[in-house]
Amino acid sequence: LFAGPVDFVKGVVAMPGLPPADRLEVCFAGRSNVGKSSLINALTGRKSLARASNTPGRTQEINYFALGEERYLVDLPGYGYAEAPLPIVEKWQRLLKSYLAGRQTLRRAFVLVDTRHGVKPVDDEIMQLLDRSAVTFQVVMTKADKVSRAERMAILDQVRGALAKHPAAYPELVVTSSEKGDGIETLRAIIATLE
Ligand code: GTP
Ligand code: MG
Repeated sequence: LFAGPVDFVKGVVAMPGLPPADRLEVCFAGRSNVGKSSLINALTGRKSLARASNTPGRTQEINYFALGEERYLVDLPGYGYAEAPLPIVEKWQRLLKSYLAGRQTLRRAFVLVDTRHGVKPVDDEIMQLLDRSAVTFQVVMTKADKVSRAERMAILDQVRGALAKHPAAYPELVVTSSEKGDGIETLRAIIATLE
């Protein structure tokens, strides 16, 4: 699946702009700057397919990427970023929430969590929304290269604890580094085997 062509389809700013719901899709959600766009680039092996940057709030639309004709990868705007003007932040957040709660073909949401920080209250809110919408979500730990093994173990315990109260959580965590490539093959395999 990941060996084939991958194309940018469109950036969506409002629900009516979503592409036809004609194939399975997975999305990447998470706090601003957690590494969503970088992860899509690592998965697809394309350095700057999704625009990544050090400035939080980089991704401001719902960006659709097609893996051949079979699947969409969906890059979402981040949440929990308070620097942009409030009306704009609120517009993204409304769009993000409508998308997560109402996309028929969304097969799994990957919720990205920074391996240095663990699950924050804003992550918990999104997870609750996914619970209510019955969208299975799986946590992907990002930036694993930035912490020691011991720190990682402690954070993973915190994350497992936080997931225990979410019925929509898929129990297995995937630990990744887009920088070093850790976990990328595992995540590709998960996406490829979803039906
Ligand atoms: P928004 O679109 O603003 O919500 O951010 P995002 O979640 O898409 O994050 P993005 O991929 O733009 O990455 C944010 C910053 O983190 C960039 O400077 C990336 O280079 C860096 N980054 C992302 N993944 C990794 C990683 O695995 N390791 C390290 N060391 N840095 C990373
Ligand atoms: Mg982004």
